[in-house]
Amino acid sequence: MSIPQRPIRLGIAGCGEVVRFKHLPELQRLPEIRVVAVADPDENARKSLAHLFAISGCFADLESMLASAEVDAVAICSPPVTHAELAVTAIDAGRHVWIDKPLAVREEDCRHILASAERSSRVVATGFHMRSHRIIQRARQAIDDSILGTIESIRSVWNSPRADEGIPSWRTDRTLGGGALIELGVHHYDLWRYLSGSDVAEVYAQSRDGVRHDEAATVSARLANGVLCTAMLSERTPHAIEIEVCGSVGRLRLNCLRFDGFESYGRRDVAGSPGVRLRSALATLGGLPGGLTLMRKGGDYKDSYRRAWLDFARAILEERPPPATALDGVRASEVAAATVESLRTGSRVSVS
Ligand SMILES: NC(=O)c1ccc[n+]([C@@H]2O[C@H](COP(=O)([O-])OP(=O)(O)OC[C@H]3O[C@@H](n4cnc5c(N)ncnc54)[C@H](O)[C@@H]3O)[C@@H](O)[C@H]2O)c1
Repeated sequence: MSIPQRPIRLGIAGCGEVVRFKHLPELQRLPEIRVVAVADPDENARKSLAHLFAISGCFADLESMLASAEVDAVAICSPPVTHAELAVTAIDAGRHVWIDKPLAVREEDCRHILASAERSSRVVATGFHMRSHRIIQRARQAIDDSILGTIESIRSVWNSPRADEGIPSWRTDRTLGGGALIELGVHHYDLWRYLSGSDVAEVYAQSRDGVRHDEAATVSARLANGVLCTAMLSERTPHAIEIEVCGSVGRLRLNCLRFDGFESYGRRDVAGSPGVRLRSALATLGGLPGGLTLMRKGGDYKDSYRRAWLDFARAILEERPPPATALDGVRASEVAAATVESLRTGSRVSVS
């Protein structure tokens, strides 16, 4: 396959919140990718976005974009139940494809995307941007360096508050991929696999519906290698993205919204003791110059989108797999489907 010497020309299908507030501001900072077209059936959404970010191509649907704009890659950023049809169209048209999470909601949709990705020689990525997050990368390196010994358990939190007013209807309905259990949860289901290297074997989920499905949820899981995991997920409480990985000889506490959010404890460290607190204060001070620079650009969380797009570009340019493949997306969607089945039955469910 020929490798472009110019920026990768990207077309985006779906002009909603994530594209406007997360993807495009970060993509604009990357010389490796140039956004040349957007597509959305909502005329106001696509025109205002194209105007705001000076994007020349503006189309009502993906097909017209593929027919009229010269794009090397396509990002699918529409509501989850539309991902499969759009992704298969873009992959079968020979483009590199980024599919936002959750990859899909229905099992047959996952199958179609996977079959199409397996037929393709191009990069097909699931948009799990957290895999590219600086602190997650650091944690993964520490785990690879065996500083934790054997991983015993992972505790995860994701709070992302959302008002009822103006919320898109798909976000209120778990069958459409909305709600904390699926829309937020898939990030952690993926990170459990990414950090532990093991698939999820079994889940038990509880959730609280309010005006919408799964405003808050908890999931406990057992991985195939025996690691025990919990996730607390909420769309009703203030922002938090935290992960604690506990091993036989060490423990990592990760706060993905802070520049100094990487804390590592050894076997003898007692959290809160003067020595540990001093070490932590010195680490914060040492990281302050870089942290302030990053904070001025919006902080680590925002930067994880830039890093994820850079990783996508590198996968294309260097002809290697992206950080999260279509199969990784399928695996997280399978866990999400098992949590929904657990809600329905009120019991533990094996992940297929
Ligand atoms: N990676 C992340 O951190 C992150 C964050 C938020 C959302 N997301 C994911 O991104 C996706 C979009 O989320 P959002 O919050 O932007 O949703 P949104 O509802 O704000 O926007 C979706 C847009 O897609 C458009 N659309 C619908 N059908 C389409 C089609 N067939 N072709 C093209 N466009 C179509 C809609 O008109 C709308 O403008 C979801 O899968 C969501 O889970 C990812």
